[in-house]
Amino acid sequence: MNEQHTQQVNTTNHLIIDGADAVDLAKTYGTPLIAYDVSAIRQQIRRFKKVFESNHVAYAVSYASKAFATVGMFQLVNQEDAHIDVVSGGELYTAIQADFPMEKISFHGNNKSREELEMAVDHHIGVIILDNFHEIDLLSAILEAKHETVKVMLRLTPGVSAHTHKYDQTGQEDSKFGFDIRSGQAQQALQKVLADTHMDMIGIHAHIGSQIFKVNGFVLAAQKLVDLAADWQTKFNFETRVLNVGGGFGIRYTQEDDPIAPEQFVDAIVKTVQKQVSLRQIKMPAIWIEPGRSIAGPAGYSLYTVGSRKEVPGIRPYVTIDGGMGDNIRPALYEAQYEAVLADRVNAKPEETVRIAGKYCESGDILIQKQALPKSHSGEVLALLATGAYGYSMASNYNRNPRPAVVFVEKGQAKLIVKRESYQDLVSLDCSFV
Ligand SMILES: Cc1ncc(COP(=O)(O)O)c(C=O)c1O
Repeated sequence: MNEQHTQQVNTTNHLIIDGADAVDLAKTYGTPLIAYDVSAIRQQIRRFKKVFESNHVAYAVSYASKAFATVGMFQLVNQEDAHIDVVSGGELYTAIQADFPMEKISFHGNNKSREELEMAVDHHIGVIILDNFHEIDLLSAILEAKHETVKVMLRLTPGVSAHTHKYDQTGQEDSKFGFDIRSGQAQQALQKVLADTHMDMIGIHAHIGSQIFKVNGFVLAAQKLVDLAADWQTKFNFETRVLNVGGGFGIRYTQEDDPIAPEQFVDAIVKTVQKQVSLRQIKMPAIWIEPGRSIAGPAGYSLYTVGSRKEVPGIRPYVTIDGGMGDNIRPALYEAQYEAVLADRVNAKPEETVRIAGKYCESGDILIQKQALPKSHSGEVLALLATGAYGYSMASNYNRNPRPAVVFVEKGQAKLIVKRESYQDLVSLDCSFV
C-alpha cells in the first residue's frame, strides 16, 4: 500500500477524501462518482510555484486542462493564480464560462480550426501556440481580417524521446505535433512568424511526453531549447522571452511507480536553463510548465459499487463494478495500471486477488487485472485511486451509459461540480427519423 492510501483512512477504516468519508459520498451522490481532494490539487500547484519562487525565476504554472476540464476546475485553478492551457474550442468555452482570465490561457492543438482560432482571437487569449505551417497561414489571415494582434509561441519537437510508454511520447522528431528543429522546419516557421506584423512571437515550447519519471529528458530538452534560443538571437535578433517546457511529470498509480517529486523536476529544469543561458550569454527567459496529470491525477478517486462476481476456476475471479471504460478508458486504451481499495475496509487483510471488471460490452473493459482485496460483497464501495487525470475528460457514453457525477471535497465539505448525466441527457441531441 503506498503512502497516500494509508494516510487517508479514518478510525472506522473508511477511505477519507479531504476530510470526507468516501462511503458517505457514494451514498449521497450515487456511483460511479469521481471525487476530488481539493486540498491535494491546491498543494500540487503550490509545490510547483514554490520551486520557481525560491529560484527567483519568472514563471507560469499552466495547468494542462485536458487532464480534467470543467468550470469548477478552472475556477479552482484560478483561485490558485495559475494559468491553463486549452486544446479545443470546447475547453476554451469552458474557461470563458468559468470567467478564467483570458490572458492566462495558452491555446495548443495540432489542427485548430478557423472557428477555434477566431474564438481565441476574439476573446484576446493570452498566447496561441502554433503547431504547423497551415496554422500560421490561417491565423495570419484571421488577424489581418480582424486587424488584431496576438502573442504566439512555436511548438517544437526537440528530438528528445522521453522514457515512457510509446503512446505518450511527443517530443521525438517523428511526431504529429510541432515543428522539427533538425530539419530546419522550426527556423522556417520562426521567419514566417517574425515577418508577420500581427503576431508577437514571445517564445518557444516543447512537450516531450507524459508520465515521465526521470529528469534526463527535460534536462536535454531544456538545453536544446536554450541553444536554439541563443542561435535565433544571433541569426535573427529574436529574443526568447518565454521558454515553455511542457508537462509530463509522472505520478504514482501503483506501488511499482516511483516518480520523483514535482519539485525535483522543476528544480532540474530551472537549474539547466539558468546554466545554459549563462553559457550562451542570453537573457534569462521566463520558464513555463504545463502539468496536467500531476495536478489532477493524484487528487482523484473513482468510487464504484460492487455488483456481480464471476468465479473462473483456477484463474482470478472477476469482480464487476457499475462503471468501467466509459468513465476510465485508460486501461483499455493503453494498459494503464491502477490500484483499488474497498472504501469501507481500506486496511482489511487482503484475502484474494481479483480482476476488477467494468460493465461495458467489451472484453477489454477490465480496470485492474490483478488486485489484492478482502473478499468483497455486492453493494460495497470500491475506490480506484489516482484517477483524476484523463479519466472523466476521456469519458464516453458507450453502451449509452450516462457519465458519472463529479464532486469536489475540501476539508470535509463536498460540492457537486458536474451533475450525473441522465437518460434524458443521453437522448437530448438525438433527432427523430419518423
Ligand atoms: C502540450 C502539452 N502540454 C502539457 C500536457 C500535459 O501532460 P501531463 O498531463 O502528462 O502533465 C500535454 C499532454 O498531452 C501536452 O500535449
